Amino acid sequence: MIQTGSGTRQTTSDGRPWTLRPARPTDGRALAALFAEVRAEGRWLITTPAAVSQPSEGFWIAEMIRGAEHLALVAEADGEVVGNVLVNVDRNLTTDHIGVLAICIAEGWRDVGIGTELVGGAQEWARERGLRKVSLGVFPDNERAIAVYERCGFVHEGLRRQQYRSGDTYRDEVLMAWFPAEGAS
Ligand SMILES: CC(C)(COP(=O)(O)OP(=O)(O)OC[C@H]1O[C@@H](n2cnc3c(N)ncnc32)[C@H](O)[C@@H]1OP(=O)(O)O)[C@@H](O)C(=O)NCCC(=O)NCCS
Repeated sequence: MIQTGSGTRQTTSDGRPWTLRPARPTDGRALAALFAEVRAEGRWLITTPAAVSQPSEGFWIAEMIRGAEHLALVAEADGEVVGNVLVNVDRNLTTDHIGVLAICIAEGWRDVGIGTELVGGAQEWARERGLRKVSLGVFPDNERAIAVYERCGFVHEGLRRQQYRSGDTYRDEVLMAWFPAEGAS
């Protein structure tokens, strides 16, 4: 692992170089494209492709990064954004101690350690930011994501049954959370 001004250079478990770095406002379009690709797989994310305008999302993400209130990290490889983790801090006065984590890695770059590193980066930031809790929701059949969250110290908080509709079917949501003050992770 080599730390430089532009990020931390790392190597995937199958030997490919990549860099973990803070997102820049100019990443907005690439991130929107990444989210669109992962949504199009139709399995992992709550939002459906039709529900989001890619240019608007790119603009919104760039604004979010510019605001510097939340965390956005990217994984970059071969000059492309291949992964991202976001932690959005709740604005409500009674819940502004909580960050909500969302993550996605491009197909072709999964299962080689990037997700675990990104979650670790988010945890480091959450600790420094003084958050009490980082929470997330995940579909119960997303075993890989759940394995990563558990490995990083997230615990199961509950199950919201039939929380999301996908066509004619209803999908449950597993709630998980990590508490910086409690875990060693
Ligand atoms: C979920 C996701 C973020 C994980 O990131 P990743 O880079 O693929 O994860 P890592 O490579 O760091 O770790 C994956 C681990 O899960 C394990 N795994 C893979 N499939 C698994 C399964 N079906 N059951 C249990 N563990 C599994 C891998 O073996 C690996 O563990 P290991 O390092 O001990 O071998 C990424 O796969 C992704 O973006 N998926 C699509 C979008 C998504 O699901 N986002 C999260 C929505 S809540």
